[in-house]
Amino acid sequence: MSITAGVVGCGNISKFHFDGLEKAGVKIKWVCDLAKEAAQPWAQKFGAAYTADYKDIIHDPAVNLVDVTAISAIHKPVCLDAIHAGKAVICEKTLAENAQDAVEIVREAEKKQAIFYTSYMKRFIPAVEKAKELLPSLGRILSTHIRAYQCWGNLWGEMPAKGFFHTPPGGISVIRKKFGGGILVCGGSHILDLVLFFLGRPQRLFASMHVPPGRDYDLQAAVLMETPNGTVLFEALSHPLNKIGFLRDGWDEKIEINGVNGRLEVFSSAWDNMDSKSSLLVHYDNQSGQSVEYRYNPVSPFARAIAFFCGNIEKGTQGSQSRRTGYDVDELISHILLSSGKHQAVEIDWKI
Ligand SMILES: NC(=O)c1ccc[n+]([C@@H]2O[C@H](COP(=O)([O-])OP(=O)(O)OC[C@H]3O[C@@H](n4cnc5c(N)ncnc54)[C@H](O)[C@@H]3O)[C@@H](O)[C@H]2O)c1
Repeated sequence: MSITAGVVGCGNISKFHFDGLEKAGVKIKWVCDLAKEAAQPWAQKFGAAYTADYKDIIHDPAVNLVDVTAISAIHKPVCLDAIHAGKAVICEKTLAENAQDAVEIVREAEKKQAIFYTSYMKRFIPAVEKAKELLPSLGRILSTHIRAYQCWGNLWGEMPAKGFFHTPPGGISVIRKKFGGGILVCGGSHILDLVLFFLGRPQRLFASMHVPPGRDYDLQAAVLMETPNGTVLFEALSHPLNKIGFLRDGWDEKIEINGVNGRLEVFSSAWDNMDSKSSLLVHYDNQSGQSVEYRYNPVSPFARAIAFFCGNIEKGTQGSQSRRTGYDVDELISHILLSSGKHQAVEIDWKI
């Protein structure tokens, strides 16, 4: 089956999807955005039709893939309409603005047997893939530390008087409007997905979050999780330190998994620079006493993810990545909010 796609949302993230779709040989028939000026260059590049109404894409029988790269607030209606129309769907993360909406989307995708992916592309970083391959060699997993420290400038003092991080009195900040939250949703969601990828679903967690007074987004989320594969210490942090991290560029994201036979450390580079900055994996093996470094040429994990998704769509199969990945992350986020609000540990109530 050849793939004909419509892309809904032509903002910042879309360029990585257009690149991935082009590399995967997908025909891009439609581009959609409320802002014509955002969509027009892509319409021209691919000879695609422009629309401001995503339903034009849904109603086109020639389209068999809808790629959802618009703001998170419209993921739910677009995904549901695309699933009902029998299309395959790739949706940017986070899947929805809350776990209940994510449940509805995934249940519908399962009911209709739609091919459905939430694009958590960090699973497709070569260093992450290699770490997953080496994971069984660690034996029993004892402890995992995982963090996403992102340099967002100094937001820890006075609230900015305007712009992306300003919450107007009684209103909504731009970061919340576009992405649904602060550092937990923006940066933390990816590494929650990696906790699920490496260790499985946590059963219980305790969380503490920092939301500055008067704002509607968080700057820090620290979580202790119990998983079937040991304890996880998780932290997502917005900070002003612009020369920290393994590449000294302010991006400090690290996964460290300790098992009885060794340790895996993944240092990942910034999400929007991965085609020029490479991630790094270090594997320490306790028997030999040696550490091996795996360095890869920089490569876009978006393109690798989209190639994987489109390969499955062409074969007409969901393949090894579950429809539930986006739901799983949204459910963890909802329990982190619950636990930090109650100042109590909570059992995770997985709905599906
Ligand atoms: N994977 C990652 O690392 C990553 C990074 C950044 C953003 N994201 C996700 O990508 C999505 C988009 O983020 P972005 O940074 O591109 O935001 P953006 O604001 O740059 O772009 C979003 C676009 O959606 C369009 N839009 C809004 N409502 C629409 C509608 N009803 N129909 C069609 N288009 C509509 C807007 O006009 C805008 O052009 C979000 O869900 C975000 O969480 C993922």
